[in-house]
Amino acid sequence: MIYVLGSINLDLSVELERLPKKGETVIADSLKSGLGGKGANQAVAIAKLGKRDDKDVSPVRLIGNVGKDAGGDSLINKLNEFGVNTDFVHRVNRPTGTAIVTLTGKDNRIMVYTGANSGLSKTDVDEALEGATSADTLLCQLEVPLYVVAYALRKARAIGMTTIFNPAPAKELPEDLYYNVDIIVPNETETQILTGINPRDYDSQIDALQEFHERGVHYAVITLGDKGSVISDGTGFIAHIPPRKTAVVDTTGAGDTFVGALALTYPHIGMYSFREACAFATAAAALTVSKRGAADSIPTFAEVAAMYNRVI
Ligand code: RIB
Repeated sequence: MIYVLGSINLDLSVELERLPKKGETVIADSLKSGLGGKGANQAVAIAKLGKRDDKDVSPVRLIGNVGKDAGGDSLINKLNEFGVNTDFVHRVNRPTGTAIVTLTGKDNRIMVYTGANSGLSKTDVDEALEGATSADTLLCQLEVPLYVVAYALRKARAIGMTTIFNPAPAKELPEDLYYNVDIIVPNETETQILTGINPRDYDSQIDALQEFHERGVHYAVITLGDKGSVISDGTGFIAHIPPRKTAVVDTTGAGDTFVGALALTYPHIGMYSFREACAFATAAAALTVSKRGAADSIPTFAEVAAMYNRVI
């Protein structure tokens, strides 16, 4: 079982030719609403990519909050349709988290009102992880309270679970948090905020990977957008995973697809090596950018396999 602790948002994605200047109003070309939030997107990626010939390879359970509003109803329905278990998604007295996504050409910008996501508590973690074992995985990001994430990682480590951490959006972290992380997956911006190193070339990328290992993380993966990713297992194995090119429609959710695909293929099932899992995640993320939206644009395993023939 993979437990995903994280945010669930209603994404309102507005496409427009350019962003307004101060005091200006710009008419948008289109509006699309759908399921989003880093936690929800990663859980959906695991559910969709984990389904092979109608058989669930890896059940996924989301731990999160939505409001007691219409948005909350529709997001829970969507999660269930995608095959995500929502037994530990609670309804709370705050509005459902909402993200405003602006799309101008290939550029996306996201503003998040966390709402119900901010109400997540340690009790929610205790309740959800009650039956977890060392065969299970915990995956977290940072759109829910940091102290709850730190607690969940500590608890998962005590149980012996595999822990994966996507530090997005990045913020200053307590040093001891890193000791409870098996695999960290930041992007370039997050890497710079967390380590002070801008991973602009191979040497600085190696320095940043090394910095994560020195803080106690076992595996580190820095995603580099259209430049692929660099990965390291902390014992001297370092590799660059090349990008997969697709026509870019909307990059929202691509990073989440990568993280979900990696969580699914590497530690939980053990079907791929670390490098192969990252290559599979790259292919899945590339397909996500070719469609509009977050959770809706995440491909199935069959779509990834059909596009790339061999997925690794
Ligand atoms: O990573 C993409 C996600 O970030 C969007 O779905 C939005 O909800 C924000 O959480």
